[in-house]
Amino acid sequence: MAKRTIVSMPGDGIGRVVLEETIRVLEAAGFEADYVEGDIGWEFWCKEGNPLPQRTLDLIEKHKIALFGAITSKPKDEAAEELIPELQNKGLVYSSPIVGLRQHFGLDICMRPCRTFTGNPLNFIRRGANDTIEEPAVDAVIFRQNTEGLYGGVEWSNPPDTVYHALMTHPKFVKNFGETAREEISVSTRIFTKNATERILRASFAFAKENGYKSVTLCEKPNVIRETSGMMYKMAQQIQKADYPEIDLWNTNIDAQMMWLTKNPENYGVIVAGNMFGDIVSDGFAGLIGGLGFASSAQMNPDSGVAVFEPTHGSAPKYADYDVSIVNPIAMVESACAMLDFIEEKEMAIKIRKAVSEVISEGKTRTYDMMKMSGRPDVIQKGAASTQQMADAIIAKLA
Ligand code: NAI
Ligand code: MG
Repeated sequence: MAKRTIVSMPGDGIGRVVLEETIRVLEAAGFEADYVEGDIGWEFWCKEGNPLPQRTLDLIEKHKIALFGAITSKPKDEAAEELIPELQNKGLVYSSPIVGLRQHFGLDICMRPCRTFTGNPLNFIRRGANDTIEEPAVDAVIFRQNTEGLYGGVEWSNPPDTVYHALMTHPKFVKNFGETAREEISVSTRIFTKNATERILRASFAFAKENGYKSVTLCEKPNVIRETSGMMYKMAQQIQKADYPEIDLWNTNIDAQMMWLTKNPENYGVIVAGNMFGDIVSDGFAGLIGGLGFASSAQMNPDSGVAVFEPTHGSAPKYADYDVSIVNPIAMVESACAMLDFIEEKEMAIKIRKAVSEVISEGKTRTYDMMKMSGRPDVIQKGAASTQQMADAIIAKLA
């Protein structure tokens, strides 16, 4: 079989080290690929006025599959100040290259698995009957609609005439906001389309069926947000009834779900939600399995086959310049496993996941986060593993 080419996009800060170490793990597992580096992030914003250059889009278009570390984003004014002098005052406005990637390639399916690793000292524990300590095994996979909803970017402050007049046709707007001065109003829309809603729902049901999950939980708020959440719930019921009768459909409200998270997280399997609520519920579940060092994600367009795999964490700039890197590479390694699943290299993914599990359960190699230290350069002297040592330990288990 022809060798694959993977676009590797380290981005900023710790993005580079976690990606480099992950590629080492992939190679040690026997995954044969060529890597071409795609430019993305702060450096390219400052130098070129574009954090996601066209050449990077072209590379992804060509090779389809990308591994992505993390990027740094800064507020608008700071972004403008950091441009090189030649680009200053040219009206360039910073926008997130991650959102840019999602929208350019229609990466509307976001999948975020949250599975407990046995022996991870960061696992959630709770008090059981008779004061026992329980450590529930979480095995949840969150499907988040990735391109629309509250993150669709359709928003205004002091809305223009056309928008304001349209809003004024809604009786509730007149009643609740009609007396407020227009310049005191900000509006962020939450637009759901039937097509994208159906795609994320179907992706979640198909995943549940393929992977033996018994339920899909829709985590929205249809009793209050009637049009968008309501449409999603109705559609979920239709899809379940017509095509997945063997899978239970549960409906939870996002607020109640966050409360239940610490009560019975082991009861949830596949979870599906719109963009904002999916973001919230996936961070909630990630907290139960160890947080940012463990939270991975996949963003996919199953039609075009373009997919980007990345950890949930950011570029953690304060750790980026340490002589010895201390951050946990597991979130990036797990993201690479999702990539292997996507390209049908499932055996390889199983092998790497098994190695990661063994390292964690053995407990000999732990990065600073797993030792509950605060992230200072001296954590290595205090016995924490470096990023490289963690990757080495995983690689040793692959042998
Ligand atoms: P962050 O995720 O970069 O770091 C928050 C804290 O989490 C760190 O200080 C560290 O204590 C911990 N952490 C993160 N990754 C870790 C790892 N692999 N191992 C162990 N501990 C880890 O988020 P923060 O500080 O809010 O943002 C820093 C920069 O990253 C900002 O410019 C932000 O815009 C950007 N960002 C980028 C994201 C992305 O590229 N997907 C996502 C989130 C933030
Ligand atoms: Mg988030």
